[in-house]
Amino acid sequence: MVRAKPEMRKAIDFMSVNLIRDDWPFREPFDVVFCRNVMIYFDAPTQRKVLERIHRVLKPGGMLFVGHAENFSESRDLFTLRGKTVYERR
Ligand SMILES: C[S@@+](CC[C@H](N)C(=O)[O-])C[C@H]1O[C@@H](n2cnc3c(N)ncnc32)[C@H](O)[C@@H]1O
Repeated sequence: MVRAKPEMRKAIDFMSVNLIRDDWPFREPFDVVFCRNVMIYFDAPTQRKVLERIHRVLKPGGMLFVGHAENFSESRDLFTLRGKTVYERR
């Protein structure tokens, strides 16, 4: 349903990653992670593990965007809520 323009595509790496496996292939830290309406399918311990991995791949001060139904306030040691659905990496 969405197609990036060719000049943008050159700057994008598309890859498929299983979030619940601990072999994420990312090398460079990210400024922003969008992970909307995905972790609602995981139980609390799995959510925590995935949040720890996202914390690991984000730069300090990086932002995590989640869905409206998702709440990770129990992981405030990792992220600070900055908006309704936006968390800042600690
Ligand atoms: C409700 S959709 C949300 C899609 C999109 N993020 C959005 O907000 O429109 C849930 C997505 O979670 C993905 N998903 C579920 N378990 C996953 C996992 N273990 N690793 C990666 N993606 C997963 C599914 O493939 C699906 O695309």
